[in-house]
Amino acid sequence: MYFLLLFLSARSSIAQSDINVVCDGVVFNGQYYDKQLLFKDFGRSYNLVMHEATGQLFFSHAVNNDTYSFRKIKSCDIHNKTCNAVMGINGGNAIFYDQQNNELYFGGYDGVYKYNFMTNKAEILHEKGMPIWDLFINNKKIYFITYKGKNLYVYKDNSFDKVQEVADVQVENFFITKHSKLYFSNDTGLYMVENHHIPFDPAILIKNNVTVRQITEDIYGNAYFCAKDGIYIDDLVSGSIKQLAHIDDLSSIVLIPTGVYSNNIIYSDKDAIYSLSPSRYGYYCYNSTQSDQKEN
Ligand SMILES: *[C@@H]1O[C@H](CO)[C@@H](O)[C@H](O)[C@H]1NC(C)=O
Ligand SMILES: *[C@@H]1O[C@H](CO)[C@@H](O)[C@H](O)[C@H]1NC(C)=O
Ligand SMILES: *[C@@H]1O[C@H](CO)[C@@H](O)[C@H](O)[C@H]1NC(C)=O
Ligand SMILES: *[C@@H]1O[C@H](CO)[C@@H](O)[C@H](O)[C@H]1NC(C)=O
Ligand SMILES: *[C@@H]1O[C@H](CO)[C@@H](O)[C@H](O)[C@H]1NC(C)=O
Repeated sequence: MYFLLLFLSARSSIAQSDINVVCDGVVFNGQYYDKQLLFKDFGRSYNLVMHEATGQLFFSHAVNNDTYSFRKIKSCDIHNKTCNAVMGINGGNAIFYDQQNNELYFGGYDGVYKYNFMTNKAEILHEKGMPIWDLFINNKKIYFITYKGKNLYVYKDNSFDKVQEVADVQVENFFITKHSKLYFSNDTGLYMVENHHIPFDPAILIKNNVTVRQITEDIYGNAYFCAKDGIYIDDLVSGSIKQLAHIDDLSSIVLIPTGVYSNNIIYSDKDAIYSLSPSRYGYYCYNSTQSDQKEN
């Protein structure tokens, strides 16, 4: 950790005083961000979703402190910091917010649930579901990955169909961007399909040997990947991925474009949930965190 003493000039309103600046934030995409603890004591948390209209942060967290054991879904109010379990759902690994339709979905042990914002309860969508690992909604089509086997299905007209392009492969994470780019990851690597509307557009391996924990996008439709050592972006120049931030044991991120927390990033690691906000000491701390990394 780097410690810096800043002496404010006489022109400053807090003249004659000095401020201790601790540079323990995070450099993201070449810019230094202050880091603040938001929530802890929930074990490792996954699949962060920020619902800006109500100020609620939804996430899935491990009960029993064990990565693959039982998980539950919580919602925490970002302003007053109170947290509540989302009721009505058995288990709870997956969360997806369909921004276009302002609908929030969960994946539990019995299938897909939809959140009722009036009652704050999850309601199951269909009769016989299966345990769900991950969930994604695109144009009202619900895609989900089964807990066992990690197969990708699409739910339509009350039936479940395997997605043909990846019918016989394992899928850990799945995402379609605003620009119809499809990304998925499995134990082999991270793959991209340039346009998922084009039948048989091949899946291109963009990085092997990478553990992806979440795929998301910014408002421009750029894809971001959470790996266990930080945040990556699809680098169109190199055809691979580029690291934007180094964070140990990263689980999940959410990029906040607008509102009170605009330009913030919320992320979770194995212990807690933090927010990153653009720092007024960015100019000073950027250099010190860079030299810290060189020393290591
Ligand atoms: C996880 O373990 C830590 C340390 O033993 C404990 O403080 C924390 O409350 C545990 N979390 C859960 C969700 O059990
Ligand atoms: C926190 O805000 C939520 C609304 O998001 C409200 O339901 C709850 O009562 C508030 N809790 C406290 C302690 O103010
Ligand atoms: C991951 O997906 C690729 C592309 O479809 C496939 O070739 C590979 O076998 C898959 N890996 C696993 C472990 O299923
Ligand atoms: C994958 O990455 C790990 C850790 O970075 C490394 O030890 C291992 O040799 C890599 N495997 C391959 C096949 O590149
Ligand atoms: C940061 O590093 C750059 C390049 O090494 C240097 O020009 C600049 O003066 C440094 N800024 C501070 C505040 O140390």
